[in-house]
Amino acid sequence: MTTTTPTSAAGPAGATGPTFRAPTASDGPAMWDLARASGLDENSPYAYVMWGEYHAGTSVVAVDDDGDLVGFVMGFRVPAAPETVFVWQVATSEACRGQGIAARLLDSLVERTGAEAVEATVTPGNDPSAALFRGLGKRHGKRVEETPLFAEDLFPGDHEAEVRFRIPVGTP
Ligand SMILES: CC(C)(COP(=O)(O)OP(=O)(O)OC[C@H]1O[C@@H](n2cnc3c(N)ncnc32)[C@H](O)[C@@H]1OP(=O)(O)O)[C@@H](O)C(=O)NCCC(=O)NCCS
Repeated sequence: MTTTTPTSAAGPAGATGPTFRAPTASDGPAMWDLARASGLDENSPYAYVMWGEYHAGTSVVAVDDDGDLVGFVMGFRVPAAPETVFVWQVATSEACRGQGIAARLLDSLVERTGAEAVEATVTPGNDPSAALFRGLGKRHGKRVEETPLFAEDLFPGDHEAEVRFRIPVGTP
């Protein structure tokens, strides 16, 4: 099941939190900007425009009251196991971090997709990312499986190994 209805989430003390909605192709440039500003792997602008068009049902953006994009999560259904959503990238703007926006992006993704499991890969040095996915497991009362997936030597240049996080989020 996929829903595209925008939802809002209350922020701290009386403030209105961002609105969460499915992306469109027009969100691509802002997602690309945020990915680059967040130190994520460099991908082409095309990838983000394409994602907004073709993977909107498995992605969510957070937009503030001014209409500015302050976070996104981009995912796809694993072709051989479509009940599993793989999160390719997730980021929030630096000024908005630590306010639960990334956690709410993941919660919104799970709700919109009805996924039974979420998978992502995390580099061992990325504590905020590991905490984000462990937190998703905690909210669902599930143990997060963490297993080595992509070795360092698969990547050209300076790139850490990637550990697969699998978080069961469906009902038992
Ligand atoms: C990872 C990232 C998306 C987290 O965004 P955020 O909006 O700050 O996250 P939240 O406020 O929702 O916090 C989620 C969890 O992470 C924890 N966390 C957030 N920042 C943290 C930090 N710097 N160190 C340790 N834990 C941290 C929070 O305590 C929370 O844990 P909890 O659920 O147990 O309470 C953000 O730091 C980011 O954009 N980083 C750069 C891009 C990146 O590395 N993305 C992940 C790889 S694709």
